[in-house]
Amino acid sequence: MDKYHTPLFAAEIVALLQAHDCKVIVDGTCGEGGHTLAFLKAGMRVIPMDYDTRLIERAQSRLNKEGFSDTKVQRGNFAQMQDVVRKSGHGLVDAVLFDVGISLHHIKALKKGFSFENSEPLDMRADSSAIEMASDYINKLTEGELYELIATGSEITSSRRLAHLIIERRGYGPLTTVGDLRMIVKKLGYSDKEENMILARLMQAFRIAVNNELGSLKEGLVQAAELVRLGGLVITITFHSLEDRLVKLYFKKRSDFSAALSKPHRNIDLPFAESAQLRVYAKQ
Ligand SMILES: C[S@@+](CC[C@H](N)C(=O)[O-])C[C@H]1O[C@@H](n2cnc3c(N)ncnc32)[C@H](O)[C@@H]1O
Repeated sequence: MDKYHTPLFAAEIVALLQAHDCKVIVDGTCGEGGHTLAFLKAGMRVIPMDYDTRLIERAQSRLNKEGFSDTKVQRGNFAQMQDVVRKSGHGLVDAVLFDVGISLHHIKALKKGFSFENSEPLDMRADSSAIEMASDYINKLTEGELYELIATGSEITSSRRLAHLIIERRGYGPLTTVGDLRMIVKKLGYSDKEENMILARLMQAFRIAVNNELGSLKEGLVQAAELVRLGGLVITITFHSLEDRLVKLYFKKRSDFSAALSKPHRNIDLPFAESAQLRVYAKQ
């Protein structure tokens, strides 16, 4: 698979970094290396990291082909960003980027249950250190625990009913594929479009739990805020309201950061990323 993930807001971010005289950047979510490459091509130094070894290999080979083999993609969770940066020989940095979630490669190539278009196995591990798969959660949790996980990770109004239907379905054997989840959503009796939306949100809830996405983002922001120098930037691209709210509330509480964009920029050009939101905070 040769098509790479499109790095969102890349030109806009490069311009912002240049305007704030940022030369050393942590790319906390290197993915397929799109943002990292844009920064390298603009003459910046980058410390790229990702928690998925499959993506690290892919990004590293792309950087090598583009003539940036000196830049090594580090393995790590951005919740432990300070360790990764220290080990790569840096102190304070000028900016940190979080482009959270999963990449096009996860969705299109890995066949691990990141896409709702095919009936793939319910794995959903992007964090290479995660032990339990989505199917472990789905087949093990109590109805109350399932409800809690679905309601907090999807914000679907029918979360209680979905939890109940999963428990009922488990009576016939474990759920193993995305198709099994779709059959459950079908029972809610919505239109095809609504069914896809609910399935996507339900899968999002399990993915968030499997990879501890919100916990890592919370800790990642703390680490990034300490890591950037005065005048430096913390940049976030989020894809749903849970992440966006977390970022907004975190910086609301920090009097040493102010928003560097008057309002968050939304992505309107790419249909797959229409929910993407860019926020930028400067340390003062
Ligand atoms: C939307 S993609 C980033 C795409 C990238 N900006 C590009 O241009 O190719 C998100 C990436 O972040 C990684 N990721 C998500 N949460 C992470 C975390 N807590 N620590 C490290 N990497 C993470 C995922 O594995 C995925 O590769």
